[in-house]
Amino acid sequence: MAKLSVTSPLMILWSVFFFFHLATTPATCSNNKTDLQALLAFKNAINGGLSSWNATLHYCNWKGILCSRRHQSRVVSINLRSQGLVGSISPHIGNLSFLRTIILQNNSFHGQIPEEIGRLRRLQKIEFSNNSFSGEIPRNLSQCRNLYYLNMIDNDLTGIIIPEIGSLIKLKALGLSINNLSDNYFNGVLPASLSNASLLEELYMHSNNFTGQILKDFSRLSSLRFVDLSSNHLEGDISFISSMINCTSLEALLLSKNLLSGSLPDSISNLSTQLSFLAIDYSQLHGTIPSGIGNLIGLNRLSIANNYLEGPIPSLIALATVLTC
Ligand SMILES: *[C@@H]1O[C@H](CO)[C@@H](O)[C@H](O)[C@H]1NC(C)=O
Ligand SMILES: *[C@@H]1O[C@H](CO)[C@@H](O)[C@H](O)[C@H]1NC(C)=O
Ligand SMILES: *[C@@H]1O[C@H](CO)[C@@H](O)[C@H](O)[C@H]1NC(C)=O
Ligand SMILES: *[C@@H]1O[C@H](CO)[C@@H](O)[C@H](O)[C@H]1NC(C)=O
Ligand SMILES: *[C@@H]1O[C@H](CO)[C@@H](O)[C@H](O)[C@H]1NC(C)=O
Ligand SMILES: *[C@@H]1O[C@H](CO)[C@@H](O)[C@H](O)[C@H]1NC(C)=O
Ligand SMILES: *[C@@H]1O[C@H](CO)[C@@H](O)[C@H](O)[C@H]1NC(C)=O
Ligand SMILES: *[C@@H]1O[C@H](CO)[C@@H](O)[C@H](O)[C@H]1NC(C)=O
Ligand SMILES: *[C@@H]1O[C@H](CO)[C@@H](O)[C@H](O)[C@H]1NC(C)=O
Ligand SMILES: *[C@@H]1O[C@H](CO)[C@@H](O)[C@H](O)[C@H]1NC(C)=O
Ligand SMILES: *[C@@H]1O[C@H](CO)[C@@H](O)[C@H](O)[C@H]1NC(C)=O
Repeated sequence: MAKLSVTSPLMILWSVFFFFHLATTPATCSNNKTDLQALLAFKNAINGGLSSWNATLHYCNWKGILCSRRHQSRVVSINLRSQGLVGSISPHIGNLSFLRTIILQNNSFHGQIPEEIGRLRRLQKIEFSNNSFSGEIPRNLSQCRNLYYLNMIDNDLTGIIIPEIGSLIKLKALGLSINNLSDNYFNGVLPASLSNASLLEELYMHSNNFTGQILKDFSRLSSLRFVDLSSNHLEGDISFISSMINCTSLEALLLSKNLLSGSLPDSISNLSTQLSFLAIDYSQLHGTIPSGIGNLIGLNRLSIANNYLEGPIPSLIALATVLTC
């Protein structure tokens, strides 16, 4: 009895210590030298930021870092949204081979996105919007076959949309708006290979420097919900709309402020009944508005102002539709 009363508090203390040790430092039992080196190189390429990334804490506990539960000390996520960081991305990023998510949204990263990013075969989500990345979209990105989300909206990227992007067959969202991307004119803005990304739901490409024609065939991109190609210099007619009949979930199609010409095809009436926003204003369209447009029962915003359209507004346009023309 006397023994127990002495040892049991000790045992409790010991187990409390043990529990704490395990619970507060889940991933610090080991170090992956490669991941640590990569994070230090990442920090070094940032001017003065990330002072909390220092030796007082294991890197798995650094701000914005998440490590794997199964693979101890392997970094799976970097989330540094809105941290006021100024700098570039170190090529060492390519050594974080377990990385699944990288979020650098709303900082001041500049310079090129390193090709080494293509070594991250487990990468699923890239969120680089609202930075100042320049140069071209790295071609090796096409090797990140698990990417489902790629957002580079509002940067200074130049060059074309690489045809290799069609290899990203799991892609659901592609954001390239507000950059300085252009095209190679003859093959069109969207590479034909993009048809292979048949899970694509969101495609944002407005406010770039695209000229020439849009992809002709959208029929395999049947999951599309939002398409925004406004404010470019796109030319040609909009007959490609008839290939969008298969896009049965289409909710918004925005083509405003381009140089699109020709007439509104009758097939417009066969677009998805989910379509709620259709905008082709500030273009060069001629002819009349097809009466079948009244079939688009989900439409609540139709913007066709500033074209050369004539004739009556079809009486069947849903009463709820806000029409600007
Ligand atoms: C650390 O990461 C490297 C690169 O992926 C790998 O080769 C190595 O086996 C890892 N080491 C440990 C201890 O997990
Ligand atoms: C190291 O990081 C800790 C928080 O992780 C912070 O409190 C401390 O100020 C940092 N030290 C230096 C020298 O920046
Ligand atoms: C962007 O980041 C800055 C800090 O650098 C912050 O003040 C601002 O609120 C952020 N903007 C958004 C929209 O998150
Ligand atoms: C990590 O990446 C850099 C740059 O890509 C490379 O020089 C280095 O050898 C790589 N390996 C390790 C273990 O850091
Ligand atoms: C983009 O960055 C600027 C400057 O840091 C900030 O003022 C703005 O709120 C950010 N916008 C978004 C959408 O993050
Ligand atoms: C880009 O990918 C190619 C083909 O896999 C590879 O040979 C090359 O080393 C990669 N470049 C970088 C910088 O990782
Ligand atoms: C856009 O890129 C082109 C080269 O493709 C360059 O000549 C032009 O100056 C860039 N425009 C801006 C606003 O950066
Ligand atoms: C789509 O992918 C298949 C198989 O990888 C390939 O053979 C084909 O060329 C691709 N289509 C386009 C238009 O790139
Ligand atoms: C668009 O691209 C052309 C050709 O690369 C370039 O000369 C022009 O400056 C670009 N326009 C803008 C607004 O960046
Ligand atoms: C829609 O897809 C089917 C196969 O899924 C195809 O046979 C048909 O031609 C497509 N329609 C259009 C308008 O592209
Ligand atoms: C719309 O689809 C119907 C059948 O679903 C077809 O008969 C009609 O020809 C199509 N109209 C246009 C303009 O493509």
